[in-house]
Amino acid sequence: MTTPKTRSVLAVASECAPLVKTGGLADVVGALPAALAPQGWAIRTLVPGYPAVMAAFPRARVLAEWPDLLGLPARILAASRGALDLLILDAPALYDRDGSPYLDAAGRDWADNDLRFAALCMAAARIAQDGLGGWCPELVHLHDWQAGLVPVYLAQMGASTPTLLTIHNIAFHGLTKPDRMERLALSPARFNMDGFEFFGQVSALKAGLVGASALNTVSPTYAQELMTPDYGMGLDGVIRARAADMSGILNGIDTDVWDPVRDPAVQWYRLPSGKGVNARLLRQEFGLDDGSGPLAVVVSRLSDQKGLDLLLAALPDFLKAGGQLALLGSGDPHLEQAWRAAADARPGQVGVRIGYDEALSHRMYAGADAVLVPSRFEPCGLTQLYALRYGALPVVARTGGLADTVIDANAAALAAGVATGIVHASHSVPALVHALLRLCALHGQTATFRRIQKNAMKHPVGWDASAPLYAELYAKLADSRTMSPCP
Ligand code: ADP
Ligand code: GLC
Repeated sequence: MTTPKTRSVLAVASECAPLVKTGGLADVVGALPAALAPQGWAIRTLVPGYPAVMAAFPRARVLAEWPDLLGLPARILAASRGALDLLILDAPALYDRDGSPYLDAAGRDWADNDLRFAALCMAAARIAQDGLGGWCPELVHLHDWQAGLVPVYLAQMGASTPTLLTIHNIAFHGLTKPDRMERLALSPARFNMDGFEFFGQVSALKAGLVGASALNTVSPTYAQELMTPDYGMGLDGVIRARAADMSGILNGIDTDVWDPVRDPAVQWYRLPSGKGVNARLLRQEFGLDDGSGPLAVVVSRLSDQKGLDLLLAALPDFLKAGGQLALLGSGDPHLEQAWRAAADARPGQVGVRIGYDEALSHRMYAGADAVLVPSRFEPCGLTQLYALRYGALPVVARTGGLADTVIDANAAALAAGVATGIVHASHSVPALVHALLRLCALHGQTATFRRIQKNAMKHPVGWDASAPLYAELYAKLADSRTMSPCP
């Protein structure tokens, strides 16, 4: 058998699991290389040299030294881990600082975020244009606004490398003031309605939306929603104008990392009945009583997107019906405070951990009867996929990728034996209460609940369906190029 010729992609992202992660973007960027390799595509992923990345690879090879990347010295380093083939942009003036990829220790956006991610984009454009030690990507895969300026820099260089922009979340635009254009080496000629201007500001996301050769987002439903004013966050018209180049490809999860049969963070199980010991440990860990009702969990960023204020309002009814809740999250200080208060008010029924803890999140999916995702909008969502994989019922709002991945346990779906969770209207406390009461009722019907759990655990959540779709899109773009790849 002949192995297919390996084709090359440069991916550009601000996060990549397991090295640096604030949300699902990192999981997806980290999982795509392994998913696409069997399709004949080798992805090299360019990430900023944050302290955690630099510390992980003390012996990374230096591939390029640039005295002047947007006025600053920078190097490109190479390192690999598992299926990840990383290019690291080492620019200490931009990335060597404590805090998250986007925020300082006090939780404020870094004042120079525009420059930090413009430099990432400029580095990517240079690599695409000039190659790196003889390696030339056939296309560049951009993730979110942090990679949005790549098509602008490529165009300014006169390069024609095709680009694919994946929209993980339209809520983040990467805005900066027009007087920063010179510092970012952006040509003012593109500062207009058809370029990267957005209501008087420079938008890195819009630059990508108008400039990339093709666009996609992370679920078919979100692809449709993005074209409407309710979800487009001011960019729905821009996306509608590119409808012919836009698609929705559902995210998968890494089913090797997320596997209840061999996950080192949990007590292993193959069947839903094996979750009992994990549930006991989880209740202990969160100081919850021995309950007979459903144990629901939330693992989430605490932001308006996630609808966790709606859950606070629905909580009393759920607890009254016998439910218990364990929440792990961090973000908006008001929500952190409100959730702490909820736990203090209902000890034994509600447990809350404010913070970020990867191993604890695994233990929560393993111990939970249900995972709640009441989002106002959700491009794809990964926690409902982990829920399915770990035999916890996802209780989700009918929006974006949540709507595409969970089958509601209504009478018809139960009769057909295909139900995997509970789906409710988004933005609505009464609908959420109703869903939580349905969860309690179903939980009381042990045989039915077990059947749904088994369906959930069988539901395909890996990359088998989506990897070929990315491969097809990559091939279409790479084959459309008019000039040969860089020298
Ligand atoms: P988003 O990217 O919008 O935050 P996703 O559902 O796509 O939402 O991905 C969230 C990812 O981040 C999941 O892997 C989830 O387990 C993880 N996560 C979110 N908050 C926490 C936390 N506080 N601790 C550990 N993992 C978290
Ligand atoms: C974003 C979205 C989330 C999606 C993730 C990965 O952060 O909010 O829904 O799953 O990106 O694509």
